[in-house]
Amino acid sequence: MAGTQAFLKQAFLRVFGPVASMRIWRAPGRVNLIGEHTDYNLGFVLPMALDLACYTATAPRSDGRLRVFSENYSEAREWRIEEVSEARPAGHWSDYPLGVARELVRAGYPVRPMNLLVWSTVPPGSGLSSSAALEVSVALALLDGRAIEPLELVRLCRRAENEFVGAPCGIMDQYVAVFGREGAAICIDCRSLEHRAVRLPEDVAIFAVNSMVKHELGQSAYPVRVQECRSAAAALGVESLRDATLAELERRRESLPDNQYRRARHVITENRRVEDFIRACEAGDLTGMGRLLVDSHRSLRDDYEVSCEELDFLVETALGIPGVLGARMTGGGFGGCTVNLVRKDAAEGFAPAIQDAYQRRFGLTPQIYPCVPSAGAGEL
Ligand code: GLA
Repeated sequence: MAGTQAFLKQAFLRVFGPVASMRIWRAPGRVNLIGEHTDYNLGFVLPMALDLACYTATAPRSDGRLRVFSENYSEAREWRIEEVSEARPAGHWSDYPLGVARELVRAGYPVRPMNLLVWSTVPPGSGLSSSAALEVSVALALLDGRAIEPLELVRLCRRAENEFVGAPCGIMDQYVAVFGREGAAICIDCRSLEHRAVRLPEDVAIFAVNSMVKHELGQSAYPVRVQECRSAAAALGVESLRDATLAELERRRESLPDNQYRRARHVITENRRVEDFIRACEAGDLTGMGRLLVDSHRSLRDDYEVSCEELDFLVETALGIPGVLGARMTGGGFGGCTVNLVRKDAAEGFAPAIQDAYQRRFGLTPQIYPCVPSAGAGEL
């Protein structure tokens, strides 16, 4: 952390000049262990916050303006404070901070004139939730120490993404960025918005493997899946697929279009897999945990249709590496990362083996991130 702080101070000084005082806010990325595409169906998810994070350094200004500099993109944007509440998206990275600023103003937290320097170690487009990390760290920076209920912060950041950026994401990413726990994954009930900590067995390690691709299709497919689930829920006469059962789905199979039937089957079985995974985890049943990850991947690939060649290859290859208990795609899909459950005593051999195989097949070097469950957002 000391290194991060020093880096940010230096960067801030370089971009904005000397300041009397500076604050730094951090919000983590996440890896989702299991429970994919269940959040907007009001089901269960099991993500953990990572030590990869977005940092926002701030200091006040005196000229009525808000300026945001991205250290990753080496680019700045600036607005007059009175513009913020009526701002419009521009299809640019700055939509995230601006959307958060607009939601804060609208929720009764006026934005003060400030300089913001944003720097993220969460790789963009990797399915590790770089957007939510950016939203939450900027929201805290703009709040500048003013109190807010954590759940309100979560909802506000999600609104910025849904209504300003225009991505109809669920609540998982912002939630875990705020409520993440050191040393544990969290199981979120996306209906009641309660969560509980789930500790992983001592003898396993988690790795995220970045396919280094992000297919265009992902952006357009996500809202289509959200809509397909809504239609399936309506056809089954339930408020959301959280309330549907497999038995009822099978009974109504003929009355549903095939795509809706399969989307619903994924969501219903995936919710059950989250609960089974937690049970296996608590019983120290490593084989059971691994098998559920693989079942989740196959369901996402075949029923939900959000995987791709690269992710399928990473999963199948991982399963052939000694000590790998299970693997699956994580996040929205169509590229980004897989999450891998590996026996600790075999962890060393995992990265070189998967890197080598992927390189030979796709000519790309996948980045590997050892996943350490970390704390949620706060001041550094
Ligand atoms: C993206 C969204 C989340 C969630 C996942 C799929 O990460 O932001 O809300 O829907 O996809 O599980």
